[in-house]
Amino acid sequence: MDLQWLFYSDTNAKAEILEETLLKRQYAMKRITYLERLFDYLKKNSQVILIIKANTVYNVYQLSEELSVKYPHVYIILMVPDNMENVKKAMQAGASNTLRFSSDKDEVREVIVQAEKYMHHRFNQEDVPSMHMLTSDNRVISVCSTKGGVGRTSLTVNLAVGLAKQGQRVAVLDGDVQFGDVAMYLDLKPKKTIYEWVKEGEARKELDIDKYMTKHDSGVSVLAAPSRPEFFEIISAKDIRMAIEELKKIYTVILIDNSSYLSEINLQCIEEADELLFMTNGDLPSVRNLKLYMDTLASLNLTKETRLILNQKHKKSLVDGKKVSEITGLPIYASLPKQENIVDASINEGLPYVVSHPRKPLSKEVLKLSGKLVSYGNSGDEKSIKKVKRRFAEAK
Ligand SMILES: Nc1ncnc2c1ncn2[C@@H]1O[C@H](COP(=O)(O)OP(=O)(O)OP(=O)(O)O)[C@@H](O)[C@H]1O
Ligand SMILES: [Mg+2]
Repeated sequence: MDLQWLFYSDTNAKAEILEETLLKRQYAMKRITYLERLFDYLKKNSQVILIIKANTVYNVYQLSEELSVKYPHVYIILMVPDNMENVKKAMQAGASNTLRFSSDKDEVREVIVQAEKYMHHRFNQEDVPSMHMLTSDNRVISVCSTKGGVGRTSLTVNLAVGLAKQGQRVAVLDGDVQFGDVAMYLDLKPKKTIYEWVKEGEARKELDIDKYMTKHDSGVSVLAAPSRPEFFEIISAKDIRMAIEELKKIYTVILIDNSSYLSEINLQCIEEADELLFMTNGDLPSVRNLKLYMDTLASLNLTKETRLILNQKHKKSLVDGKKVSEITGLPIYASLPKQENIVDASINEGLPYVVSHPRKPLSKEVLKLSGKLVSYGNSGDEKSIKKVKRRFAEAK
């Protein structure tokens, strides 16, 4: 078994004792200073022991937690200043061991031997699935419609909460950068939005995007639309692409409430998506436009996995589901019942109906949809992640 020892610090921090001790045991220590490269390395290598040295620019415990969720196969050792050592906190953050800045040769050797033992033990366990399989891939889902008012934002926020209930780390990106109201639907008052993220671009660092997110009690994080409509002007399609790239480093699902008018930003939100949820309320113009929109995307080489969601299915005078499928050429993936009272109350109170009325038919459908989306893109990774985490805990 070929163990890889990785040392991450975003400065050229010293780690002489560690390096010497590893050398004595015939290991070379690889240094990484860029977080992007670290993510890339962890994705591609399975027998990694990662030592993270605490720094002032990032919170070492938070980084450890993020890495342990995203790359549960990695054995993490936190190297912290003596006054910051907190073994319990480290373990809660998914780390397997800690070192102090002042740790002497014996302590360093002991930690290395423990990591070696653990990795060998794990390697010899026949029933541990391939560690590569454990990397939880993230998914970008863009919720789209060709018409306003079909229920896109209500579905997005309720789906987000449903996905968070399934254990996903969910980010919602408000793709309507002019009049987006995702934050309002969740009764959030964002201090920072995508506008500030773009404006403060020069000073930004890796993972900084989390500081611009507004957190909801359900665990969902929102990258809100600018507080004023005219601020949208500074936000480009490139910014949207970069924001999604950053979100993918932290979250397992990124839901985009995409605007209904064609724009560069709208198209970028589609281009970045792994799949599209296309909403229609089933009236003829909306269904026809949907077909037109899909053809336009195809002509732009933006063909994506597309799922059709029919909202308010009991509304009179709409095209029935069969006809909608015929016109669009797509099967109906989910059909949401008309429940005006609970949708309106939920919007007015800023409380998702899956929280306030989990047993109502609409909530049940949306929760079912979130389960369907998760099971579609997840080949049992979550269970495996938990299993490995348990093994880590047991080995301590
Ligand atoms: N399942 C539903 N049953 C009944 N009414 C619904 C349902 N879903 C949405 N609505 C109604 O549609 C209205 C618009 O919902 P929502 O704001 O989510 O749509 P939207 O597509 O995001 O609109 P916009 O284009 O303004 O962003 C709501 O006020 C609500 O009354
Ligand atoms: Mg909306």
